[in-house]
Amino acid sequence: MNAIATETSFPTTRENIAGIPIRDIAKKFGTPTYVYDANVIAQKVNDLKQFDVIRFAQKACSNIGILNRLRQHGVVVDAVSAGEIQRAFAAGYTAHGTPHQVVYTADIFDQAALDLIVKNRLHVNVGSPSMIDQLGEVLPGHDITLRINPGFGHGHSRKTNTGGSGSKHGIWHEQVDECLIRADRYGLTVTGLHMHIGSGTDLEHLAHVCGAMEKTARSVGRTITTISAGGGLPVPYRVGQSYVDIAQYYSLWDATRQRLQNEFGHAVSLEIEPGRYLVAESGYLVAEIRAIKQMGENTYYLVDAGFNDLARPILYGAYHPISIASRDGRALTSTHPVVIGGPLCESGDIFTQDEGGYVSSRELPVAQIGDYLILEVAGAYGFVMASNYNSKFRAPEVLIENGKMLEIRRRETFADLIAAESLGN
Ligand code: LLP
Repeated sequence: MNAIATETSFPTTRENIAGIPIRDIAKKFGTPTYVYDANVIAQKVNDLKQFDVIRFAQKACSNIGILNRLRQHGVVVDAVSAGEIQRAFAAGYTAHGTPHQVVYTADIFDQAALDLIVKNRLHVNVGSPSMIDQLGEVLPGHDITLRINPGFGHGHSRKTNTGGSGSKHGIWHEQVDECLIRADRYGLTVTGLHMHIGSGTDLEHLAHVCGAMEKTARSVGRTITTISAGGGLPVPYRVGQSYVDIAQYYSLWDATRQRLQNEFGHAVSLEIEPGRYLVAESGYLVAEIRAIKQMGENTYYLVDAGFNDLARPILYGAYHPISIASRDGRALTSTHPVVIGGPLCESGDIFTQDEGGYVSSRELPVAQIGDYLILEVAGAYGFVMASNYNSKFRAPEVLIENGKMLEIRRRETFADLIAAESLGN
């Protein structure tokens, strides 16, 4: 399969997001602030419309304002926790419907999730054989999906590879028969199969999944009515990276589905479960440069966002495009290599680092204190992985839609920070 060659360029200066000047966004909401462009999300949904069902892996960006938009675009959701199930309901999804509006996908049930599943009779994508017994005890006669680990996987980092024996995810492909016997004990019917081999993977690996799916589906047989290709579609974060050729990817999966339909004599629905693809490019983290300093040979811009806001660089050495907007409209002409750090009291709080924690520099415009620095392609696994480390307040989230700035999450306050704590007196 071919990758789509991308012309994507990532300019290092930026004046606005979705037509709104960065300065206006920063003045209204302060910094750091997450900003999403609703149009980009709509376009990305449209790219995948050939699939029967688009199921958003909400772990990538679970703000209920975003989920609400995706619901309006006809996208259903995946939930991996009690909190994500409740977010789906809060965004207007219901427990029922065809296709299942909310599916719980995990390798364990915790009590809170299991209680919600039983109460709402939610569909479950089972990732461990033990879950079959645990669900069978409380919901005998239910339909289930099996998440299969096909024995291989691939991701942008070792930490995002979800296949093979080095991954904890899914039911090992050689244990499918054993799982069918377990399911039979409780009258559970296996109606779906799901494979997700990793996040930020590539075409070559994604294409292998079709063959593994077909083999497994044939061994399960005619009860199968849905197959899910999982997520994993990459997006370019830097020049030279590419998109998957969606039309080609779809046709491989469609051919797999057709063969299974012929074999089974009934329709088989084809789902895709992207997280990153739908939201990554819609999102920006807008920060302000608060200090500029020289440390030996390195020039540092220190900004007011840190790994408490965007953890991907410290976790995976992930590369995010970075741009600068001047605070006063002056032109940014010359560039120089700079290291970008945040405010946290930890030396790993660097946005320009490679996997393994090696600090690197980036060629960026010569800037001044008070200029804005924008971390781009930050809509997936950005805000959702934010923390309160160093007692930082989590940033607001702003959705730009039809030229309007909608605050879909306000900045946290000190009261939020200690709301669940007590003095223990
Ligand atoms: N389905 C399942 C079962 C998954 O585990 C995941 C991601 C997805 C779908 C969506 O994958 P996507 O289309 O977004 O690649 N925090 C990491 C990514 C972790 C992905 C976890 N599972 C990052 O920032 O790159």
